[in-house]
Amino acid sequence: MPKAKITALGCYVPTGVLTNYDLEKMVETSNDWILERTGIAERHIAPQDVATSDMAVEASRALLAQRGIEADTIDAVIVCTVTPDMLFPATACLVQDRIGARGAWGFDLVAACSGFIFGLTTAAHLVSGGSHKRVLVVGADTMSRIIDYKDRATCILFGDAAGAMLVEPSEDGEETGFIGFLNEIDGSGGDYLKMPAGGSRIPASRETVDQRLHYVHQDGQQVFRYAVKKMYEVCRTLLDRHNLKVEDIAVMVPHQANRRIITAVAERLGMPCDRVLININRYGNTTAATIPLATRDAIAQGKLKKGDLVLFAAVGAGFTVGANLWRWSY
Ligand code: UT7
Repeated sequence: MPKAKITALGCYVPTGVLTNYDLEKMVETSNDWILERTGIAERHIAPQDVATSDMAVEASRALLAQRGIEADTIDAVIVCTVTPDMLFPATACLVQDRIGARGAWGFDLVAACSGFIFGLTTAAHLVSGGSHKRVLVVGADTMSRIIDYKDRATCILFGDAAGAMLVEPSEDGEETGFIGFLNEIDGSGGDYLKMPAGGSRIPASRETVDQRLHYVHQDGQQVFRYAVKKMYEVCRTLLDRHNLKVEDIAVMVPHQANRRIITAVAERLGMPCDRVLININRYGNTTAATIPLATRDAIAQGKLKKGDLVLFAAVGAGFTVGANLWRWSY
C-alpha cells in the first residue's frame, strides 16, 4: 500500500533563450547537427545575477501556491544540484531561509542528472517511515555557470531551470502514491563526466582556470552508451519486480539528456513514443530539473492524470542511475 504521495509540483524556467542559431555564432556547429544528434532546438539561460538558489526558491514558491500551504509546515528540504550557489553552506539552507521553512532540516543531494529521482526516493522513505509529513524536493541547476562555451561537444547540451515536488503521507486506504524504486551508483564511470577542479583534489588556482578545469568535461559516446543500457535495465527490472507490464504505465518521464537516448530506451522497453514525455527540444538538459519540468508537461498535455502509473528514469554523472514508480495522486 502506498504511504507517500506527490501532492504538488512547481517549476521555474528563466526567460532568456539560447537557440541553436545563437550557438552557431559561438562555436563551429549547426542547427541541423544539434537537432539531429540531440533533439535540442533551444535552452533557457539564467541571467548572471541569478543563481541556483534563486531558481529553486521560485519553483518552491510556485509549489507552495499550488498546494495552498505555508512554508513553515515543511519538515525537510532536499535540494538536488551539481551547481550549488557555493560549496557551502548547502543550497538547501539558502532555500529553507528564503522561503521561510522555519523548523525544517535538509541537505543538498549530489547525484547530477539522477538527483531528482534520488531526492524523491529519499523523500518517499522519510514520509512513509512516519517521521515526516511534508518533504520538499527541489531539482535546480544553473548549468550555464559550469559550461565551456568554447567546447561545442558540451555547450550545445545544457540549460538552466528548477523544479520542485512535495511529498506527503497518503491517506489511509489510498491507492495512489509511491510504489518502488531502483537506484544505483557506479563510480567506475566517474571520469566520463565531471567538473575536474574546484574541490579538494584540484583546488582552484590560476592554472586550473587557464586549463578550463572548472567546466563540464564529458566523453559523450561513453555516457551515451551507458545511459541507454542502464536506463533500460533499471526500468525493466523495476517493472518486473512489481509485476507490471509496459502497457500498465500511462507515461514514462525520462531524464532529458539526448532525444536519441530516450527513444532508444523506449524502443527497447516496447514503450510507444506517445507515452514517453520528451521536451528536450525546448529546454536541453537541465540536469536535476528535467524530471519535474517533463512531469509538468505530461500533466499539461493530459498524459498524466490522477490514478495513472508514471515511471521516472535517469542516468547521470557518477555514474548515477535511478528509476521510480508512482501512482499519480492529483
Ligand atoms: O545527462 C547525462 C549527461 N550527458 C549525456 O547523456 C550525453 C550523452 N552523449 C551524447 O548525447 C552525445 O554523445 C553527444 C550529443 C554529446 C555527441 O553526439 P555523438 O553522436 O556521440 O557525436 P560524437 O561525439 O561521436 O562526435 C561525432 C562528430 C565528431 O567529429 P569527427 O571526429 O567525426 O570529425 C565531433 O567532433 O561530431 C563532432 N561534433 C560536432 N559537430 C558539430 C561534436 N559536437 C559537435 C557539434 N556540432 N556541436
